[in-house]
Amino acid sequence: MTPTAPTKPATIGAPVPSALPTPIEPDAAKGKRFVLGVSGASGAAYALRLLELMLQGGAEVHLVVTEYGRRLLFDEAGITHLDFANLCPTITDARVAQRLVIHPNKDVGAVIASGSFLHHGMAVLPCSSSALGYMATGSGSNLLCRAAMVTLKERRPLIVCHRETPLNLIDIENMQRLTLAGAIVCPTNPGFYLKPTSVEEIVDFMVGKVLDLLKVEHGLKIRWEQAGD
Ligand SMILES: Cc1cc2nc3c(=O)[nH]c(=O)nc-3n(C[C@H](O)[C@H](O)[C@H](O)COP(=O)(O)O)c2cc1C
Repeated sequence: MTPTAPTKPATIGAPVPSALPTPIEPDAAKGKRFVLGVSGASGAAYALRLLELMLQGGAEVHLVVTEYGRRLLFDEAGITHLDFANLCPTITDARVAQRLVIHPNKDVGAVIASGSFLHHGMAVLPCSSSALGYMATGSGSNLLCRAAMVTLKERRPLIVCHRETPLNLIDIENMQRLTLAGAIVCPTNPGFYLKPTSVEEIVDFMVGKVLDLLKVEHGLKIRWEQAGD
Protein backbone atom coordinates (compact mmCIF):
# COMPACT_ATOMS: atom_id res chain seq x y z
CA MET A 1 0.00 0.00 0.00
CA THR A 2 1.36 3.45 -0.93
CA PRO A 3 1.73 5.73 2.10
CA THR A 4 -0.34 8.87 1.78
CA ALA A 5 1.27 12.26 2.32
CA PRO A 6 0.34 13.82 5.66
CA THR A 7 -2.15 16.63 5.32
CA LYS A 8 -2.35 19.74 7.46
CA PRO A 9 -5.31 19.85 9.83
CA ALA A 10 -8.08 22.27 8.90
CA THR A 11 -7.85 25.64 10.62
CA ILE A 12 -10.31 25.84 13.50
CA GLY A 13 -12.30 29.03 13.88
CA ALA A 14 -11.45 32.39 12.36
CA PRO A 15 -8.11 32.78 10.59
CA VAL A 16 -5.39 34.17 12.83
CA PRO A 17 -4.39 37.70 11.78
CA SER A 18 -0.78 36.82 11.18
CA ALA A 19 -0.05 37.91 7.66
CA LEU A 20 1.24 41.41 8.30
CA PRO A 21 3.71 42.41 5.61
CA THR A 22 6.34 43.49 8.16
CA PRO A 23 7.55 41.90 11.41
CA ILE A 24 5.64 44.62 13.22
CA GLU A 25 3.65 47.72 12.21
CA PRO A 26 4.57 51.07 13.84
CA ASP A 27 1.27 51.21 15.74
CA ALA A 28 0.91 47.50 16.62
CA ALA A 29 1.67 48.19 20.29
CA LYS A 30 1.02 51.94 20.39
CA GLY A 31 -0.30 53.03 23.76
CA LYS A 32 0.85 49.81 25.40
CA ARG A 33 3.40 49.52 28.13
CA PHE A 34 5.38 46.37 28.87
CA VAL A 35 7.95 45.22 31.40
CA LEU A 36 10.82 43.11 30.09
CA GLY A 37 12.98 41.20 32.56
CA VAL A 38 16.25 39.70 31.36
CA SER A 39 17.96 37.19 33.63
CA GLY A 40 21.14 35.16 33.34
CA ALA A 41 20.04 32.36 31.05
CA SER A 42 21.26 31.80 27.54
CA GLY A 43 19.26 33.59 24.86
CA ALA A 44 20.25 37.26 24.79
CA ALA A 45 19.15 37.39 21.14
CA TYR A 46 15.55 36.67 22.14
CA ALA A 47 15.48 39.56 24.59
CA LEU A 48 17.07 41.99 22.15
CA ARG A 49 14.67 41.08 19.34
CA LEU A 50 11.62 41.32 21.60
CA LEU A 51 12.78 44.71 22.84
CA GLU A 52 13.38 45.92 19.29
CA LEU A 53 9.95 44.83 18.06
CA MET A 54 8.06 46.17 21.06
CA LEU A 55 9.70 49.56 20.59
CA GLN A 56 9.23 49.53 16.82
CA GLY A 57 5.59 48.66 17.43
CA GLY A 58 5.14 51.83 19.49
CA ALA A 59 5.21 50.36 23.01
CA GLU A 60 6.82 51.85 26.08
CA VAL A 61 9.19 49.26 27.53
CA HIS A 62 10.50 49.09 31.09
CA LEU A 63 13.62 46.96 31.08
CA VAL A 64 15.24 45.33 34.09
CA VAL A 65 18.32 43.15 33.72
CA THR A 66 19.84 41.04 36.48
CA GLU A 67 23.57 41.00 37.12
CA TYR A 68 23.94 37.71 35.25
CA GLY A 69 21.56 38.97 32.59
CA ARG A 70 24.11 41.72 31.95
CA ARG A 71 26.81 39.09 31.71
CA LEU A 72 24.76 37.15 29.15
CA LEU A 73 24.12 40.29 27.11
CA PHE A 74 27.87 40.79 27.04
CA ASP A 75 28.84 37.16 26.41
CA GLU A 76 26.27 36.53 23.69
CA ALA A 77 25.75 39.98 22.14
CA GLY A 78 28.85 41.97 23.09
CA ILE A 79 26.82 44.57 24.97
CA THR A 80 29.03 46.33 27.48
CA HIS A 81 26.69 49.12 28.47
CA LEU A 82 22.94 49.07 28.98
CA ASP A 83 21.63 51.96 26.94
CA PHE A 84 19.35 52.46 23.95
CA ALA A 85 22.17 52.72 21.40
CA ASN A 86 23.73 49.43 22.45
CA LEU A 87 20.50 47.53 23.01
CA CYS A 88 18.68 48.72 19.88
CA PRO A 89 21.34 49.45 17.23
CA THR A 90 18.88 48.95 14.36
CA ILE A 91 16.53 51.71 15.53
CA THR A 92 17.74 55.00 14.09
CA ASP A 93 14.83 57.21 15.19
CA ALA A 94 16.17 58.79 18.39
CA ARG A 95 12.62 59.59 19.57
CA VAL A 96 12.06 55.88 20.17
CA ALA A 97 14.70 56.01 22.92
CA GLN A 98 12.22 57.98 25.04
CA ARG A 99 10.01 54.89 25.19
CA LEU A 100 12.74 52.73 26.71
CA VAL A 101 13.16 53.01 30.48
CA ILE A 102 16.00 51.00 32.01
CA HIS A 103 15.75 50.25 35.72
CA PRO A 104 18.56 49.01 37.99
CA ASN A 105 17.74 45.55 39.31
CA LYS A 106 18.66 46.66 42.83
CA ASP A 107 16.07 49.43 42.83
CA VAL A 108 13.03 47.71 44.32
CA GLY A 109 11.56 51.19 44.71
CA ALA A 110 11.32 51.71 40.92
CA VAL A 111 7.87 52.33 39.42
CA ILE A 112 7.49 48.77 38.12
CA ALA A 113 7.68 47.53 41.72
CA SER A 114 4.28 49.08 42.38
CA GLY A 115 0.91 47.65 41.42
CA SER A 116 -0.35 51.19 40.88
CA PHE A 117 1.92 51.45 37.83
CA LEU A 118 -0.30 50.20 35.02
CA HIS A 119 1.12 48.02 32.28
CA HIS A 120 -0.05 45.41 29.79
CA GLY A 121 2.17 42.55 30.86
CA MET A 122 5.66 41.39 31.67
CA ALA A 123 7.93 38.91 29.96
CA VAL A 124 10.97 37.36 31.61
CA LEU A 125 13.08 36.44 28.60
CA PRO A 126 15.28 34.57 29.03
CA CYS A 127 14.42 33.28 32.50
CA SER A 128 17.09 31.41 34.46
CA SER A 129 16.27 28.56 36.83
CA SER A 130 17.39 30.85 39.59
CA ALA A 131 14.91 33.61 38.66
CA LEU A 132 12.23 30.95 38.18
CA GLY A 133 12.88 29.71 41.72
CA TYR A 134 12.84 33.17 43.24
CA MET A 135 9.59 34.03 41.50
CA ALA A 136 8.01 30.74 42.52
CA THR A 137 8.69 31.55 46.17
CA GLY A 138 7.25 35.03 45.90
CA SER A 139 10.60 36.71 46.47
CA GLY A 140 10.75 40.43 45.86
CA SER A 141 14.37 40.94 46.80
CA ASN A 142 15.38 42.28 43.40
CA LEU A 143 13.42 44.42 40.97
CA LEU A 144 12.91 41.75 38.32
CA CYS A 145 11.29 39.37 40.81
CA ARG A 146 9.40 42.13 42.60
CA ALA A 147 7.96 43.39 39.28
CA ALA A 148 6.95 39.81 38.41
CA MET A 149 5.24 39.34 41.78
CA VAL A 150 3.35 42.59 41.32
CA THR A 151 2.34 41.57 37.80
CA LEU A 152 0.85 38.37 39.22
CA LYS A 153 -0.96 40.05 42.10
CA GLU A 154 -2.50 42.56 39.70
CA ARG A 155 -3.59 39.64 37.47
CA ARG A 156 -1.67 40.91 34.47
CA PRO A 157 0.06 38.61 31.99
CA LEU A 158 3.39 37.27 33.22
CA ILE A 159 5.23 35.30 30.53
CA VAL A 160 8.09 33.25 31.95
CA CYS A 161 10.46 32.09 29.21
CA HIS A 162 12.61 29.62 31.10
CA ARG A 163 15.83 28.32 29.49
CA GLU A 164 17.47 25.25 30.83
CA THR A 165 17.51 21.64 29.82
CA PRO A 166 16.99 19.02 31.06
CA LEU A 167 14.72 20.01 33.91
CA ASN A 168 15.01 18.81 37.48
CA LEU A 169 12.00 18.30 39.72
CA ILE A 170 12.62 21.64 41.43
CA ASP A 171 12.30 23.49 38.11
CA ILE A 172 9.17 21.53 37.26
CA GLU A 173 7.57 22.25 40.63
CA ASN A 174 8.51 25.92 40.34
CA MET A 175 6.84 26.04 36.94
CA GLN A 176 3.74 24.39 38.37
CA ARG A 177 3.62 26.87 41.24
CA LEU A 178 3.97 29.87 38.95
CA THR A 179 1.39 28.49 36.55
CA LEU A 180 -1.09 28.02 39.40
CA ALA A 181 -0.42 31.62 40.44
CA GLY A 182 -1.39 32.82 36.96
CA ALA A 183 1.90 33.00 35.06
CA ILE A 184 2.34 31.51 31.60
CA VAL A 185 5.45 29.36 31.40
CA CYS A 186 6.67 29.62 27.82
CA PRO A 187 10.05 27.88 27.60
CA THR A 188 12.45 29.01 24.88
CA ASN A 189 11.59 26.00 22.83
CA PRO A 190 11.27 26.89 19.14
CA GLY A 191 9.46 24.74 16.62
CA PHE A 192 11.03 23.73 13.33
CA TYR A 193 7.94 22.98 11.26
CA LEU A 194 8.41 26.18 9.25
CA LYS A 195 11.89 24.99 8.23
CA PRO A 196 13.94 27.93 9.50
CA THR A 197 17.10 28.64 7.56
CA SER A 198 18.73 31.11 9.95
CA VAL A 199 19.22 31.70 13.65
CA GLU A 200 17.20 34.89 13.22
CA GLU A 201 14.15 32.90 12.08
CA ILE A 202 14.49 30.60 15.09
CA VAL A 203 14.72 33.60 17.40
CA ASP A 204 11.70 35.19 15.72
CA PHE A 205 9.68 32.03 16.27
CA MET A 206 10.05 32.40 20.04
CA VAL A 207 9.63 36.16 20.02
CA GLY A 208 6.44 35.79 17.98
CA LYS A 209 5.07 33.40 20.60
CA VAL A 210 5.73 35.95 23.33
CA LEU A 211 4.15 38.77 21.30
CA ASP A 212 1.07 36.57 20.80
CA LEU A 213 0.84 36.00 24.54
CA LEU A 214 1.13 39.75 25.15
CA LYS A 215 -1.56 40.32 22.51
CA VAL A 216 0.63 42.31 20.14
CA GLU A 217 -0.16 41.69 16.49
CA HIS A 218 2.89 40.91 14.39
CA GLY A 219 3.92 39.42 11.07
CA LEU A 220 6.60 37.02 12.26
CA LYS A 221 6.45 33.61 10.64
CA ILE A 222 5.30 31.32 13.42
CA ARG A 223 1.95 29.88 12.31
CA TRP A 224 1.39 26.27 11.43
CA GLU A 225 -0.83 27.46 8.56
CA GLN A 226 2.29 29.02 7.02
CA ALA A 227 4.07 25.68 6.75
CA GLY A 228 4.71 25.12 3.06
CA ASP A 229 4.31 28.83 2.17
C1 LIG B 1 27.31 32.06 30.16
C2 LIG B 1 26.26 31.60 31.14
C3 LIG B 1 25.16 30.94 30.65
C4 LIG B 1 24.16 30.51 31.54
N1 LIG B 1 23.04 29.91 31.03
C5 LIG B 1 22.04 29.55 31.87
C6 LIG B 1 20.84 29.00 31.34
O1 LIG B 1 20.65 28.86 30.13
N2 LIG B 1 19.85 28.70 32.22
C7 LIG B 1 19.99 28.89 33.58
O2 LIG B 1 19.04 28.61 34.31
N3 LIG B 1 21.13 29.40 34.09
C8 LIG B 1 22.16 29.74 33.28
N4 LIG B 1 23.30 30.28 33.80
C9 LIG B 1 23.46 30.39 35.26
C10 LIG B 1 22.77 31.61 35.81
O3 LIG B 1 23.25 32.78 35.17
C11 LIG B 1 23.02 31.70 37.32
O4 LIG B 1 22.31 30.67 37.97
C12 LIG B 1 22.64 33.05 37.90
O5 LIG B 1 22.78 32.99 39.30
C13 LIG B 1 21.24 33.47 37.54
O6 LIG B 1 20.96 34.68 38.20
P1 LIG B 1 19.75 35.63 37.76
O7 LIG B 1 18.54 34.79 37.69
O8 LIG B 1 19.69 36.64 38.85
O9 LIG B 1 20.13 36.24 36.47
C14 LIG B 1 24.31 30.73 32.93
C15 LIG B 1 25.42 31.41 33.41
C16 LIG B 1 26.39 31.85 32.51
C17 LIG B 1 27.57 32.59 33.05
